[in-house]
Amino acid sequence: MRKAVYDERYARPGLYWGSRPTSLAREVIRVARTLPRSPRTLVDLGSGEGRDSIYFARQGYRVLGVDISSVGVRKSEERAARLGVKVRFQVGDLRTYRLKHRADVVFCSGALNNIPRRIRAARFEHFKANTAPGGINAMNADVPKPYIPPYSKNPYATPFRSGELLGYYGDWEILDSRQVEFMSTASGVPHRKAMDIVVARKPRLGAR
Ligand SMILES: C[S@@+](CC[C@H](N)C(=O)[O-])C[C@H]1O[C@@H](n2cnc3c(N)ncnc32)[C@H](O)[C@@H]1O
Repeated sequence: MRKAVYDERYARPGLYWGSRPTSLAREVIRVARTLPRSPRTLVDLGSGEGRDSIYFARQGYRVLGVDISSVGVRKSEERAARLGVKVRFQVGDLRTYRLKHRADVVFCSGALNNIPRRIRAARFEHFKANTAPGGINAMNADVPKPYIPPYSKNPYATPFRSGELLGYYGDWEILDSRQVEFMSTASGVPHRKAMDIVVARKPRLGAR
């Protein structure tokens, strides 16, 4: 969705997405405990008002949250400061943003649909190349289903095809790959949706 729409949402009092971390963020923490080497650095792409970034920082990660909404970034910074949590936030566009350092975890919840289809393969190559060997990517993406009435307040989103997300990780170890259907209440209007979830680990050897 265009920056202005999120700026307007995030300028309202309270937290549009709430303060509880997403289930994907909690899954990352669970998965990380099973890895031979604990991840330390994490990039949260499309970090919104910072709920997951702050959660990860509280779990001991060094976190960079990136979002196109400058209002969201400022709100995240202020909230983190108020809570006494150290997190770095930055304004950036997922379509062009370049990671400057390899991160142990590249995480994206709820924002991938903002990457147009024609540049997706290149964007995933970039995210993967900038993940440390043995590190993970944890991502989710809404997928349309013919039997679920379409619902989107975001006219600029391009949904993923069912299974598309997994396809970007064919050369990585798949730690989790699922499709879930649930009632979303995030926008204030309950609606059914389907979502692909992938948690994948970059091989230590033989990966770009
Ligand atoms: C559904 S919200 C999810 C926010 C956050 N991940 C969460 O779960 O609380 C999607 C987020 O993606 C951001 N976004 C939309 N288009 C973007 C883009 N091109 N680059 C970076 N962020 C973008 C929005 O500003 C918004 O904060």
